[in-house]
Amino acid sequence: MAELRLLLFSLSILFSTSLCCPDDQKLALLHFKSSLLDSINSSTQYSLSSLDSWDDSSDCCHWDMVTCSSRSNSRKVVALHLDSLVLAEQPIPIPSMVLSPLSLIKSLMLLDISSNYIVGEIPPGVFSNLSKLVHLDMMQNNFSGSIPPQIFHLRYLQYLDMSSNLLKGVISKEVGSLLNLRVLKLDDNSLGGYIPEEIGNLTKLQQLNLRSNNFFGMIPSSVLFLKELEILELRDNSLSVEIPKDIGDLTNLTTLALSGNRMTGGITSSIQKLHKLETLRLENNVLSGGIPTWLFDIKSLKDLFLGGNNLTWNNTVNLEPKCMLAQLSLSSCRLAGRIPDWISTQKDLVFLDLSRNKLEGPFPEWVAEMDIGSIFLSDNNLTGSLPPRLFRSESLSVLALSRNSFSGELPSNIGDAIKVMILVFSGNNFSGQIPKSISKIYRLLLLDLSGNRFSGNIPDFRPNALLAYIDFSYNEFSGEIPVIFSQETRILSLGKNMFSGKLPSNLTDLNNLEHLDLHDNRIAGELPMSLSQMSTLQVLNLRNNTLEGSIPSTITNLTNLRILDVSSNNLSGEIPAKLGDLVGMIDTPNTLRSVSDMFTFPIEFSDLIVNWKKSKQGLSSHSLEIYSLLDLSKNQLSGQLPASLGHLKGLKLLNISYNHLSGKIPATFGNLESLESLDLSRNRLSGSIPRTLSKLQELTTLDVSNNKLEGQIPVGGQMDTMNDPNSYANNSGLCGFQILLPCPPDPEQPQVKQPEADDSWFSWQGAGIGYSVGFFATITIILVSGCISRLPPQNRHRSHRRQRV
Ligand SMILES: *[C@@H]1O[C@H](CO)[C@@H](O)[C@H](O)[C@H]1NC(C)=O
Ligand SMILES: *[C@@H]1O[C@H](CO)[C@@H](O)[C@H](O)[C@H]1NC(C)=O
Ligand SMILES: *[C@@H]1O[C@H](CO)[C@@H](O)[C@H](O)[C@H]1NC(C)=O
Ligand SMILES: *[C@@H]1O[C@H](CO)[C@@H](O)[C@H](O)[C@H]1NC(C)=O
Ligand SMILES: *[C@@H]1O[C@H](CO)[C@@H](O)[C@H](O)[C@H]1NC(C)=O
Ligand SMILES: *[C@@H]1O[C@H](CO)[C@@H](O)[C@H](O)[C@H]1NC(C)=O
Ligand SMILES: *[C@@H]1O[C@H](CO)[C@@H](O)[C@H](O)[C@H]1NC(C)=O
Ligand SMILES: *[C@@H]1O[C@H](CO)[C@@H](O)[C@H](O)[C@H]1NC(C)=O
Ligand SMILES: *[C@@H]1O[C@H](CO)[C@@H](O)[C@H](O)[C@H]1NC(C)=O
Ligand SMILES: *[C@@H]1O[C@H](CO)[C@@H](O)[C@H](O)[C@H]1NC(C)=O
Ligand SMILES: *[C@@H]1O[C@H](CO)[C@@H](O)[C@H](O)[C@H]1NC(C)=O
Ligand SMILES: *[C@@H]1O[C@H](CO)[C@@H](O)[C@H](O)[C@H]1NC(C)=O
Repeated sequence: MAELRLLLFSLSILFSTSLCCPDDQKLALLHFKSSLLDSINSSTQYSLSSLDSWDDSSDCCHWDMVTCSSRSNSRKVVALHLDSLVLAEQPIPIPSMVLSPLSLIKSLMLLDISSNYIVGEIPPGVFSNLSKLVHLDMMQNNFSGSIPPQIFHLRYLQYLDMSSNLLKGVISKEVGSLLNLRVLKLDDNSLGGYIPEEIGNLTKLQQLNLRSNNFFGMIPSSVLFLKELEILELRDNSLSVEIPKDIGDLTNLTTLALSGNRMTGGITSSIQKLHKLETLRLENNVLSGGIPTWLFDIKSLKDLFLGGNNLTWNNTVNLEPKCMLAQLSLSSCRLAGRIPDWISTQKDLVFLDLSRNKLEGPFPEWVAEMDIGSIFLSDNNLTGSLPPRLFRSESLSVLALSRNSFSGELPSNIGDAIKVMILVFSGNNFSGQIPKSISKIYRLLLLDLSGNRFSGNIPDFRPNALLAYIDFSYNEFSGEIPVIFSQETRILSLGKNMFSGKLPSNLTDLNNLEHLDLHDNRIAGELPMSLSQMSTLQVLNLRNNTLEGSIPSTITNLTNLRILDVSSNNLSGEIPAKLGDLVGMIDTPNTLRSVSDMFTFPIEFSDLIVNWKKSKQGLSSHSLEIYSLLDLSKNQLSGQLPASLGHLKGLKLLNISYNHLSGKIPATFGNLESLESLDLSRNRLSGSIPRTLSKLQELTTLDVSNNKLEGQIPVGGQMDTMNDPNSYANNSGLCGFQILLPCPPDPEQPQVKQPEADDSWFSWQGAGIGYSVGFFATITIILVSGCISRLPPQNRHRSHRRQRV
């Protein structure tokens, strides 16, 4: 026994030495680790704990993420799971050269370097010696350039995932000329390219994933050589051909995903040969023609996405599907009439999208009974009320019914649907109260009831701990503004209702609120001081209420505020000079998320309606973060315009019209470099229009009418195009070529400083020459209308002086 033990002991010593990984491989891995460390800027916070076990003194076969072959004679590294190596708050870019040492590990069969934000081109040498690779995962990095040809020599490769990178195909000059590209810049990184024909050499490939890259053009015909292919995933590129006619030859395909490209033509009939097909994703292309019924004869089919094309459903066909679908998208497929009955045979359905069709009739009871998880029926013409059975579902999580003709009250048992996260009922004809039970839905994140005829009291939502998005606008709610929402509320839209009373001071309890919209109600009283504690506010819309008192100067505390609309109220007093300190209107917003970023669901959010350049406009919630507006119009504000408003460089719109402001327009307004629309009309402003306004290069709308302004309208820049006489009407003596009214010569100022040429028409326009479009248009008008002979040459400086007299 003792001998045997001794033997075993010595054997294990023997093994533990001979079973070490080869020194060259160990060195290569240590080299990889050190170059990775070198490449990371040590001043940023990160964690690389996953490589802690990689040290010189131990056997690399025992290191984390390293797998060696189990063969007894030689232990070599066969697999490296190097995904998500660096953990940091922001992705740290890692240069692709760190991969080079890996090229020495020739025994490698599996290499996973996904999710590392490696930037730059794939070093071509890395793969030339890794000829044993079977599994290569490079997903979610920032690799750019093209796929190095060495990868196409990896003849054992079965799994290749290069999705979510910045890769493009190779593009040769010949291909470029074939494409007849008008501008061909081969060094331009934004230029995509074809998926290389050589992909067809990887004949063992079972999974090919090139999703979310920059490939364009066609799918190479050599893909048809990949007979073992099970997954072909090419979503979200710019491919623009027909689906390959012979795709049906890849009989092992289980997933064919071509969505989010520009695929044309019809759904090729060879797809019906794919007897193992489970997932067919063709949505969001430009496919056309009829939707073939044989699709539903593919027994294995589980996920079918055809929406967002120009496909047509044959509404007379009576389908008997042989498949059992889990997910079905037929949005914008011209479905008409009732929701098709055959869907009831799909007992496993968890996702149903029939939005943007011409469906009519009621919400079928049988759909309610199917316990589907996500139901999208928006943009149809469905009628009637919702069946209570729908909310007894244990599965329902998303229900989007916007823009139909549903009516009646919401079923009182709506709160039974405890798994619901998203309810979108906007643009229907629902009425009555919101059922109290809704506050039982703990997971509710988004509730959009806008554009209906809901009325009465709003139930207490505080138990809904997650509710972040609430849109009750355009309904018939009344009573005081309720403050009965979750602390998580970020968006609260209650506009266009009949709310009355004062602004509640405990609004500040909503300490995550970003967007508060109460326009078109009957809210009275003063703006509470407490408002300035809501430091997360980005959008505050109180338009068209009956607010009075002055604007508190503490409002500058709202450092994130980008959109402030208090127009059409009874606010009085002076405009606080502190308004010029509103940080959110000074800096161009950068880090602010857009509302819709909070949700990854395909839902259209309501626009924010504002008065934009003289008409009501909806600002899309998808890009709300790029707007910065200040609208104080239609109040009783008096005193002078504070010069400090000129600090608000981020403002695109400034409207202070219909108030009682007096004094001069501050010259600082010329610093509002982003301003597109400036409305100061209907006040008592006097003096001249500051010449600095000609610096406003984005200005397209200006209204200073109905004031007491005089003197020359500034020239140059966009001011030369501001030639609508209505914008200057009813003042005390404005002149200028914009309104075809010459300014009288100034007798006090001799013409000494001005060179001769200044007396010509063109130099009278002086500063305008740089921005000649509007300028020449104006000149042309003047020439055509024959005014030129009546207008004497003018001198800018003289007229400027004259205005001061
Ligand atoms: C490291 O990061 C700091 C700040 O993040 C930056 O100032 C510095 O230039 C960076 N150094 C290198 C070498 O990238
Ligand atoms: C990766 O590329 C994207 C798109 O160009 C860019 O926005 C992102 O900052 C890059 N990430 C790193 C870590 O370089
Ligand atoms: C590939 O291996 C050979 C020797 O086996 C070596 O000479 C060559 O440098 C290696 N190539 C790369 C890119 O590492
Ligand atoms: C691909 O295979 C063809 C033959 O089918 C061969 O001529 C070509 O050299 C191969 N290309 C690569 C990159 O391996
Ligand atoms: C398809 O898959 C089957 C079973 O997984 C396999 O036996 C066969 O070799 C594969 N290739 C082709 C071309 O059928
Ligand atoms: C959609 O297809 C129809 C024919 O079915 C065609 O008339 C129409 O022009 C197509 N629309 C687009 C945008 O391609
Ligand atoms: C629609 O289906 C019906 C019944 O199957 C058939 O008779 C008709 O030809 C089809 N129409 C089109 C346009 O395919
Ligand atoms: C919706 O259906 C009703 C009848 O149910 C009809 O009167 C109306 O015109 C339809 N609207 C649209 C946009 O098709
Ligand atoms: C909404 O429903 C009411 C009855 O409740 C009806 O009078 C009205 O016409 C409906 N409006 C629309 C647009 O269908
Ligand atoms: C805010 O005050 C009102 C009454 O003034 C009260 O009904 C409501 O519950 C309060 N909200 C919060 C969140 O405390
Ligand atoms: C202001 O709101 C009232 C209802 O409170 C509405 O009748 C009126 O049309 C609104 N005014 C404007 C200009 O929208
Ligand atoms: C300004 O905001 C801070 C929090 O950001 C708050 O503590 C303070 O009370 C606010 N001041 C006023 C006057 O509201």
